[in-house]
Formats: sequence, C-alpha cells, structure tokens
Amino acid sequence: MDVELTRRLREARRLAFITGAGVSAESGIPTFRGAQGLWRNFRPEDLATPTAFARDPLLVWQWYEWRRALCSGAEPNAAHKTIAAIEADFSERFLLITQNVDGLHFRAGSRRMIEVHGSLFRVRCVSCQHRAEHPYRTESRLPPRCPLCDNLLRPDVVWFGETYDQIDIRRALDFLSDVSLVCVLGTSGMVPMPVHLAEHARQYGAYIVDINTAESALTPMADRSLRGAAAEILPALWSEQL
Ligand code: OAD
Repeated sequence: MDVELTRRLREARRLAFITGAGVSAESGIPTFRGAQGLWRNFRPEDLATPTAFARDPLLVWQWYEWRRALCSGAEPNAAHKTIAAIEADFSERFLLITQNVDGLHFRAGSRRMIEVHGSLFRVRCVSCQHRAEHPYRTESRLPPRCPLCDNLLRPDVVWFGETYDQIDIRRALDFLSDVSLVCVLGTSGMVPMPVHLAEHARQYGAYIVDINTAESALTPMADRSLRGAAAEILPALWSEQL
C-alpha cells in the first residue's frame, strides 16, 4: 500500500478523522448524492427541514423510521472497526468528527466522537428541553410524543436551514488546531463543514489525507488522496507492515 503514509498515521502525535456517508456504504446504507443517493429519490425540502416537519410530522417520521430500521439492521464495516481500533491506540490524542447519523461508529466502539449532524437514535422535544435516546423498535407509534409535555418529539438531527451546535464545532476546531494528521473518509464536501474543518487543521499544520471512491471537494486541498472503498483502504493502510 504505502509504507510512508502508514508510518505517518501510526506515528501521528495527534490524529483526527472526519467521516461522511461513504464510510457506511459497505454496510449497505445509501449515501446522499450520486447515482443511488438518497437525495435522488427524496427531496430534502419535503423531509429534512423544520418547515417539512411542521407541515407533516407523520410523513417525516415515516421516512426517519425507514432509515432507522435500515441503519439498525446494518452492521459496522471494516472502516468503522479500524477507526475504533485506532482510537483505542491513540486515546485522548484522537478525535472522530462524523456527519453520519447512522450510529455505526458508536456500535463499532468509537467514543471520542462528535456527531455534528446528530443521531437517528436520539430524539428531542420541539417544545421543552427533553432529549433522550431513541432505539429502533418495530412497533413504535408515530409520531412519538414527549413524555414530559406531550408535544411532538423530533429526530435529534440537524436539518437543512438549521445551525450546528456551536459547542460541538468549537470542540472540533480546538482539537483540529493541534493535530499532525487528519484523515477524511467518504464525504463529498457538498455540505461544506468537512472542508472547513480540514482547511482549519491544514492552516495549523496538519497533513490531510482524503480517502474516497471518487474525487471530492476535499481532493484539491489534500496532501494525499487515495481512491477506493474506505472499508478496504483504511484497514490495509493501518495494518501495513513497516
Ligand atoms: P454524500 O452522499 O454527499 O457523499 C458521499 C461520498 O462518499 C462521495 O464523495 C462518494 O464518492 C463517497 N463514497 C461512496 N462510497 C464510498 C466508499 N465505499 N468508500 C469511500 N467513499 C465512498 O455524503 P456526505 O458527504 O456524508 O446531511 O453528505 C454530507 C451531508 O449531506 C449528510 O450528512 C447529510 C446530507 O444532506 C444532513 O442530512 C444534515
């Protein structure tokens, strides 16, 4: 594979990963863009905005229940597992920033992680402060209601037109101000946050690695670009003989 890159990865002083939907492709979860992408078949403005939820909460919840069923039935793949193994080695010198809401990083063992777009397996109340875990169950009644105030619960995800949690972003930027290597996997960068985060790390001297089946918005700024499936490339890179 690439001994020099493997050495950089293993010997990094501090290391960050930024992931997108491509990391879960080998687990059978569709990405958002591209030929089979979710946004080819569904319109974000009908399903993933506060206005859509106010208009038709049942429709939005039905779409989310379908995704929750799909993701809870999927298994973490070799990319998720390798990222968790790397975290175990690096401990507090490691941070994962993911745009994915599918819960697969957590199920693979990742804990030092910021889910910048939230999670399909948490809910929050539209009215009060209630926030809770929300595991998938086949018999759920839709739309779910808040146990405290009986208002609607919504998926605890970031929708179009909504802002990121500023505490999450501050934490990510702080960590990225002092990393030697950032590995960006399976994101198009069409939502600009991963590009912004990687640019920030690069300004502070980090080496940027982009792993993707295709060119992305990250490619022009990366020091190294590797083309192929994350679930094949990352485990091979990490386990290469030095
Ligand atoms: P996209 O669907 O925009 O991009 C997926 C990326 O993964 C593309 O660049 C593909 O080339 C790449 N890819 C596909 N299969 C791969 C594989 N097996 N290994 C490596 N790379 C692969 O997904 P994201 O960039 O994650 O936001 O999208 C960002 C955000 O846009 C999502 O979090 C979602 C969406 O709207 C919200 O829902 C808020």
